[in-house]
Formats: sequence, structure tokens, C-alpha cells
Amino acid sequence: MSNGNEFATKSPNRIYVTGDCDGLPDLREALASHPEVELVGSANQVAEAAATLTGGHLNVVLHATRAATLPVNELAAIREHTRAPLILLASNGSPALLEEALEHDVADVLLLPQLTDNVVFSIRKAGHVGKRLTGDQRRHGRLVTVFSPKGGTGKTVTATNLGTSLAKHWGKRALLLDLDLQFGDAAIMLGIEPEKTIYDLVTAPGELDSEKLAGYTTKHASGLEVLPAPLRPEDAELVTEAKLARLLEVARESFDVIVVDTSPFFHGPMLATLDRTDELLLLCGLDVPTLKNVRLSLQTLELLSFPPDRVKLVLNRANSKVGMKPKEVESALERGIDFEIPSDRIVPLAVNRGNPAVLAEPKAEFSKAVRAMAKELVAAQAVAKQKKKFMATLARA
Ligand SMILES: Nc1ncnc2c1ncn2[C@@H]1O[C@H](COP(=O)(O)OP(=O)(O)O)[C@@H](O)[C@H]1O
Ligand SMILES: [Mg+2]
Repeated sequence: MSNGNEFATKSPNRIYVTGDCDGLPDLREALASHPEVELVGSANQVAEAAATLTGGHLNVVLHATRAATLPVNELAAIREHTRAPLILLASNGSPALLEEALEHDVADVLLLPQLTDNVVFSIRKAGHVGKRLTGDQRRHGRLVTVFSPKGGTGKTVTATNLGTSLAKHWGKRALLLDLDLQFGDAAIMLGIEPEKTIYDLVTAPGELDSEKLAGYTTKHASGLEVLPAPLRPEDAELVTEAKLARLLEVARESFDVIVVDTSPFFHGPMLATLDRTDELLLLCGLDVPTLKNVRLSLQTLELLSFPPDRVKLVLNRANSKVGMKPKEVESALERGIDFEIPSDRIVPLAVNRGNPAVLAEPKAEFSKAVRAMAKELVAAQAVAKQKKKFMATLARA
């Protein structure tokens, strides 16, 4: 894992500057090199900034004005694109400006010139309030990672059918992210031919936000959105940990649930994914080599301090008559199986037709098992949400 206390470290406030006033160029330069802020960009006219303001990724927007009265229209234009806290910078402001601004949902008014540290302090204050507010209101999608240390265990079959069921049967805004970066086949199993892949997304210029992400996903007939793996294996390495981390953050803001299909390795992108995973579906089969590697995976996860209660053990092809029983899996792994998926001949048929089994054969035992798994994930998400609400109430009390 990249860093054990990721959540404790103070991340810089992402800011954007619109408008213009005396003293702004100097201030902008000072902010650009200040360690506590990340200046994402600036634009004289709000209209020029529309694309960057959108997507909910900014912590604070600073708007500069030469007017002595409140630039109501410009503030409204900014509000069309973002709910981020607003700080007004003015070079000709009157004392009445502050009162008026506070009534218009402006977090602070600063008359320039100001010491850079004063401005940064104001940004921190506004950003802090904003994070608390949006933290509650913002969609916080659940990340479900499907992993197995062996190929052919059924990761992609499980991920595609689970994603399909979450979208189709449980009405979730669901994204399937194919992180089997070299040989991903989630799109093929779903029978879609996407024009864009994760490679196009991470190599596209500019900031990633929800809207941009939406331009790169492909919708499956079930409603499931898909972001496929790169078309060529050699393009995989451009999907860096940093890019992926940002992608996952943005995806959580736009989707209820993100199902991640993986390759059988603990490589960088996988570790970045684990850092943010709410539920790890660890797939096992009834064969000795897979069992041995799943056991090793459990040990690796422990070394990585991955919370054990987030691991769900899934036994695929649970009913196969191959001289090993589910009970033996449990005693070898010293833990219980959470979900069993039966082996079913409809699965390879569905794979070859590019139509997920849960849609093609909804009555099959396989499909019932996947739907039940989707149901439990939805229930777990509801519990987590309740818990969060409860904690927020406690914090306010
Ligand atoms: N429960 C199942 N019943 C029947 N066949 C299955 C089942 N799960 C997986 N398969 C078959 O195994 C093959 C490999 O599965 P896949 O999901 O591609 O594995 P992985 O992604 O782990 O490499 C699939 O093509 C599918 O036909
Ligand atoms: Mg696969």
C-alpha cells in the first residue's frame, strides 16, 4: 500500500482563480508556489473556466473583481458550475461589500493587497468547511474489487455479471473498471466495442473530473458503464498509480458502485486500488494451486494492513465434483466462505455470445447466486451509509 495513513495526511486545497483585479497577478504567482494550495488554473472570464470548474474536484474558487459592489452575475455564473466555497478578492471594495457577499453564499472577502499567508489561511478555512459539507452531500461510491491470484478463476465472469446485476436489478449507477491492464477482456464478455479505453482517459490532456470521465465510458445495455482496459498490452504502463488514484476518486463521486476487474498480481495500480477498496471479493476455486495462492494472497493482504473485514471469500464453481469440498477450502484458509457461485454451462456459452449470463439466463443457478451477491453488496452499502450519517450526527452534537 502506498502509504498507511493516506487519510490522515493533509492534502493541499485545490483552488481555481477567476476574474481580475489590481494585485491579482502577484498573488496568483505566490499561491502557485505555496505548498498548502494547488493552483489548478485561472481564467479572466468565468465562461472560459466552465469546463474546469465543473466536476466537484475543486476545494475553493477565488474570484477577483475591480468593482466596488458585489459582482452578482459573475458569482452566479460560477455557481452554475461548482458548489465549491467562494472567496471574493477585491481591489476597490467598500466595507458594505463583506456583508453583502456573506448573504450571497461567499465564504470570505479579502481586500487586496494581502499577505499571501492571510489568503492561504482564508482558503484553508473555506476549504475545511466545504469539505465537511460536501463530504455529506457528495455521492461516495463503493469500490468493489474482484481479485484472484490465478488466471481463469472467474474474475472477469464475476465482475461483469455483478456489475450488470447491480445496474440492471438494483438500479445502481455502476461502473465496471477493467484493471486487467494488459489482457483485459471485460468489454468482450459484455459484447461491447468501446471507442475509448482507460488508456485514452489517462493520456488525455487536462484535469480529470466527473464530466471528463463520462466522456470515456461506454454504456452497456444493462445500464452498466464500462471503462475498458487498454487495447494494447504495452499501453498498460501509462496507467500509473497517481492517475489511477485520481480516477478512482472521481469515479466515486459519479457512481454508486465501482466494480474493478483485476489481473492476478499485486502491482502498483492494484495497490492503489486496494487503498480505496471497500469490499475485496477474493475468488477461490476447488483446486490445490489456486487454494495455495489464495492462502498466500490472504497473507499478503495482512502484510499490507488491508482490513480483514473487507475481504469476502468467494468460491467459484463451488459445486464442481473434483475431489475437494468447500469445507476443505475453509479449513485450509482458516476462514469461512462468504459466497458460493456454482459452475454452470450457461457461463461459457454466455461468454462466447458476449451477453452476461445474468441477463441471458436469469433463472439459472449461477445468475441467482450473482444476484444474491449483488443484493448483499447493496445492503452493506446501505448499512455503511447509515453508519456514516450516524457518525456525522454524533460529530455535530
Ligand atoms: N461459475 C462458472 N461456471 C462455468 N464456467 C465458468 C464459471 N466461472 C468462470 N467460468 C469459465 O472460466 C473462464 C475463465 O473465467 P474468467 O472470468 O475469464 O477468469 P479470470 O478473469 O479470473 O482469468 C470463462 O471463460 C468461463 O467460461
Ligand atoms: Mg479476467
